[in-house]
Amino acid sequence: MNTRSHAATLLDMADLLRPNAIRAAAALQLADHLAHGPLTAQTLAERTGANPVMLTKLLRYLDELGLLRRDDEDAFTLTELGEPLRRDSRQSLGQFLSAEGLFGRADLGLVGLLHTVRTGESSYAAAFGREYWDDINGDPAFAEALDKEGPTRIAFDADLIVDAYDWSGVRRVVDVGGNNGTLLMELLVRHPHLTGAVLDLPGVSKIAARRVAEAGLSDRGEAVAGSFFDPLPTGADVYLLSGVLADWSDERAVEILGRCGEAAGQEGKVLLAEINLDMESSGQSAAATDLWVSATVPTPSRTVGRLKELGAAAGLTLTWEGPGTHIRSLLEFGAGGARA
Ligand SMILES: C[S@@+](CC[C@H](N)C(=O)[O-])C[C@H]1O[C@@H](n2cnc3c(N)ncnc32)[C@H](O)[C@@H]1O
Repeated sequence: MNTRSHAATLLDMADLLRPNAIRAAAALQLADHLAHGPLTAQTLAERTGANPVMLTKLLRYLDELGLLRRDDEDAFTLTELGEPLRRDSRQSLGQFLSAEGLFGRADLGLVGLLHTVRTGESSYAAAFGREYWDDINGDPAFAEALDKEGPTRIAFDADLIVDAYDWSGVRRVVDVGGNNGTLLMELLVRHPHLTGAVLDLPGVSKIAARRVAEAGLSDRGEAVAGSFFDPLPTGADVYLLSGVLADWSDERAVEILGRCGEAAGQEGKVLLAEINLDMESSGQSAAATDLWVSATVPTPSRTVGRLKELGAAAGLTLTWEGPGTHIRSLLEFGAGGARA
């Protein structure tokens, strides 16, 4: 490859217009407006409340990218490439990529990456003025976004937790920091003998309660509002922590593990399904995830070994190690009366 094509490749890789245009299109729900046939820029501007002149420019660029097609009468149609942006499409990316959504906004925080690399501080806070979880937990609009986006996100690794762990001897599970209940509901559906609760902060827990009821699972599932820094409801066989510790410092992570151990008591287990980044055995995608996570939430990325050390620091004993994926590990701890 010659220097000129390297330069072109680099410029393409560093481009910020394309991703932002796609995320603006997702936020304006252009694909949904175009789902039932072609519309002009003027009609789309009226329906989305966007500035007609700027929207026209965006639409032309999306036509150039191949997400839309402009016809002879200046109306725009959705192409096959643009289809996944429809919110009603299978595995829709519309909400996920929206510039105003939960994950889209986290991605946009990466404009502060230089600040992170210079200082070690979160790029998200540099971009938006407050830390990611403060934003999410403090703004009802985000709780709504979480409601819509959760299922997309959890689908990435639900199978590992649902299938790789032996749930046959478990009667009750508490999904601690279980978000909108997606994982708990998946567990209840796939393992009909289980009962369980999802525990999360009040705003999120309300959403989980509604979703569990809508899924017709209220006879076996419930949502509990609370904090994992306070004593947790006792009596469950398994306290599941999925993707929670990655957001917290070592000290706080040990506190959370300790609370789970305390509630699990002598008989219960703590199942840690954590994001781990074993850079030695992982490929490039782990490096990208590592950088993304540590730029977005200012906490250390941890290897499986480090997670085991945190478990031990919380007074827990490793009782089982699951198969894991390149970014997820599955560790079971026996609590044996651990204290926070
Ligand atoms: C990264 S999400 C993980 C969600 C889910 N377990 C999963 O696997 O996708 C972290 C969750 O912890 C919740 N959370 C944050 N602080 C909390 C606290 N003090 N007590 C309980 N939940 C909390 C957030 O609301 C969010 O739902």
